[in-house]
Parts: sequence; C-alpha cells; structure tokens
Amino acid sequence: MFSSQTYKQRRDTLRGMLSGGVALFVGAVEAPANALSNTYRFRQNSNFLYYFGLDMPDLIAVVDVDSGEDIIFGNDLTISDLIWTGPQPTIAELAARVGVGITKPLSELPAYLERARACGRKIHATQPYRAETAATLVALNVCDVPSEELVRASVAMRSIKSAEEVAEMEKACDIGYKMHMKAFEMCREGENERRIVGAIEGIAMQEGWGVSFLSIVSQHGETLHNRNCDGVLQNGRLLLVDAGAEALSNYTSDFTRTMPVSGKFTDKQKDVYNIVLAANNHVFDISRPNMPYRDAHLAATRIILDGMKQLGAVRGNVDDALQAGAAYLFMPHGLGHMMGLDDHDMDELGEMYVGYDAEIQRSEHPSCKACRMARRLQPGMVVSVEPGIYFIPALIDKWRAEGTCKEFINFDVLEGYKDFGGIRLEDDMLITPEGNRMLGRRLPITVEEVEAAMRR
Ligand code: GLY
Ligand code: MN
Ligand code: MN
Repeated sequence: MFSSQTYKQRRDTLRGMLSGGVALFVGAVEAPANALSNTYRFRQNSNFLYYFGLDMPDLIAVVDVDSGEDIIFGNDLTISDLIWTGPQPTIAELAARVGVGITKPLSELPAYLERARACGRKIHATQPYRAETAATLVALNVCDVPSEELVRASVAMRSIKSAEEVAEMEKACDIGYKMHMKAFEMCREGENERRIVGAIEGIAMQEGWGVSFLSIVSQHGETLHNRNCDGVLQNGRLLLVDAGAEALSNYTSDFTRTMPVSGKFTDKQKDVYNIVLAANNHVFDISRPNMPYRDAHLAATRIILDGMKQLGAVRGNVDDALQAGAAYLFMPHGLGHMMGLDDHDMDELGEMYVGYDAEIQRSEHPSCKACRMARRLQPGMVVSVEPGIYFIPALIDKWRAEGTCKEFINFDVLEGYKDFGGIRLEDDMLITPEGNRMLGRRLPITVEEVEAAMRR
C-alpha cells in the first residue's frame, strides 16, 4: 500500500475530472468455491485498489464530487467473526490508512445514495466483471452503468504510472524473472509441464501476491492461452512459458519465453525464433511518446511476414501481404496490452477506452483487427511487447480451404510446420519522455542466452 497521501491525491484528481455527483466504488467480496468458508482466493477490484488501496472484502466507497468528501462504507467485525479471523483493525482505522476520515456501516449506503439521487445528482459506477459486484449495483438501484465520465477519468489516470507505481512493477518483474529462470532450469525431456507450473507459481506465492494470470506452460504454444499443462516434455519440441507475478501491491509483470526441450534449437526452430526476436527488439527500437502503438503492431507483423517470406511460407510484396491481413495467420493477436494493477490493465473498463480513443478508433481492417492497444503512447504508460509466430493447423486448413490470402501464402510450405507449435517472446515496456525502457532485468532471449540458461 502507498501512503495515504497517494490515495487522497488520486481521489482529489478524480473529483476535478468529474462534472458532479457521486463516484461509487464497489470492492470485491469473498466468493465461495465449494463451501461458505472455502473461498476462491480473494482479489480486490483494481479500480477500488487504485483509489482506496484497501485489500479486503466487503467495502464500498464513494468519492463525493460536490461535497469533497470521501466515505468508506463497511462493517466492523463482531466477536463471532473475530473468533475465526483473529483481531482485525476497525473500518475507521483502515480508512485512516488511505486518508479517509468518514466511515459508515454498509446499512447506511442505500439511504445515502437515495438522498443523492433525490437531489438530482448522478451516481457514477463502472460495469464490473464479477457477478456479485454487478448484483450489488442492481440492489443499490445503480442501473445507469457504466458512467462514461468515470471510465474515461479512471483510464486517463491509471494509464500513466507514477514513479512509485513503476517501482512496484519492477518488483513484479523481479519475481517474474525468477519464475522464468526456474522454468529454463527445469525444462528437460521427461519433465512434466504441470510440475513446472507448480514450481514457478510457488515462486510467485513465495515472493509476492501470486501469479498475475494463470500460467501458460505448454509444448502446444500455438494455442494462445493454453490452459492444459498435462504434457510430458519431449526432445525436439518447443516449450512456451508465459507467466508473471503480482507484487504484494498487486502491480503485475508478464513475460513469455520459448525454449527447446533438448536445450538446443534446431536450425528450423532457430529460423522462426529469430524472426520473433527481431520483431520484439524492433518494437523497443521504435517505441516513443506520441507514436500510435498500432504502428508498432504493424511494424512487428511486417517483420514477421518478411521473415516468413525468407522461409518460403509467404510470397509476393510484403507490404501488400500486410495490407491484405496475411500476418493474422501467423500472429492472430495484438502486439501488446496496457499493464498495471491488472495484467491486462483496466480490461474491465473496456478496450474502446483503454486501447483506443477519439483519434484512433477500433478498426476491422485485416492488418490490425487483432490489435487491442492502438492509441498513442505517452510517458508513464506500461505496455507488453509480445510478438509471436504460431502454426495453428486448424487455421492453416481453414485459410487454405477458403483461399484466404492465397496469393501471399504458400500453403504447401506451411504443411511442414503443422507440428512446429508456436513461439512468443514477451517483455514489459515503460514509455519514458525520451523513448522507452524495459522493465526488470531482461530474461535470456537470444538463442545463445536461452541455450546457456538451460545448461545451468
Ligand atoms: N499472459 C497473457 C498475455 O500475455 O497477454
Ligand atoms: Mn503473457
Ligand atoms: Mn501479455
């Protein structure tokens, strides 16, 4: 948690950005998994965390724009709670830690909101993913969600990371570094994907809050978010590891490395790997303030098409192939996403506000329809850089059958890659006034570095 001043300043800034009314922040609640007391791991709502900092369930807070008051609604624990939880601070004590001087029991919230409504004041809230939170909004009669004003203000503020936020992300990167070095160390023939997941997620728990998303550890790297980790590692295959951590403050990291199970890339693997590496490096070479991140997406996918042309899988003019959308066959996802208190930062607030704006709008153009973060970069933004090349048999077959981009794709050559898997290389990038810098220590990434990390 940051100092109370940080949260107070954030709320005051927010107040200045809203035209009036009350901004309502519904914190997360415990969610039973299979018994009332056996819950899923508690994760606070990130917008609540950003403005009110408290990482515990059953809190609802308001920023009153007109009166200048901030209030936290929550119930002090009773003795029958405390025998299960042990001594806990009161709501007033918790509120003081984040600079809030007014607290009230939850039972007073409906009447508070009714009074605001009766005066014709707007209640601003965002649309939550969590069903319990959505139900709470309905119960409170807050139906006009999302408030576009609150969404825009939250996105504007959370998009630009302060120095203390960047420091927390560096901590998350340090943990991510250790997780991936462990994966390099464990990756060998006969090892089980599941055991690697267990080992690296253990590091995330030991050193921070835990993982920033469910780890992807798979020899089927061509499946973008592969949740299956039952495979036994085999020489000749590639293992894709996409994993990251949250620091105790919940700020995130997100890295991907791809390694040869045998410890040595084949020439064929090396050729594809070096294309992805060139795309990753190029994005760091060109990214700077005011550049639309869509341009970086296009530059990376152009490198991928050019590289695949060298390997005979693409033909014709590379720029024409790019415009026709041929890169989607190899990389059917965006170059990166915003990062912060969520791995896919502010996803809950809506891609059209986080990745796009009035100037750069979502486009279904074939060259960039997969792009989710397209708008201009600004100092303080943190984005992932995650180009990849994937050989997805079902997609190759579909394009072949339908003749999609057939003037640019050599489907006969691609037949020889159907058992290749996929390669993704992901680093985290902070935009600085001068350009950018990588967050954390860079994991081994060249062919030589990866092979050396696996020999350790
Ligand atoms: N870990 C999912 C992603 O890289 O976006
Ligand atoms: Mn990732
Ligand atoms: Mn990512």
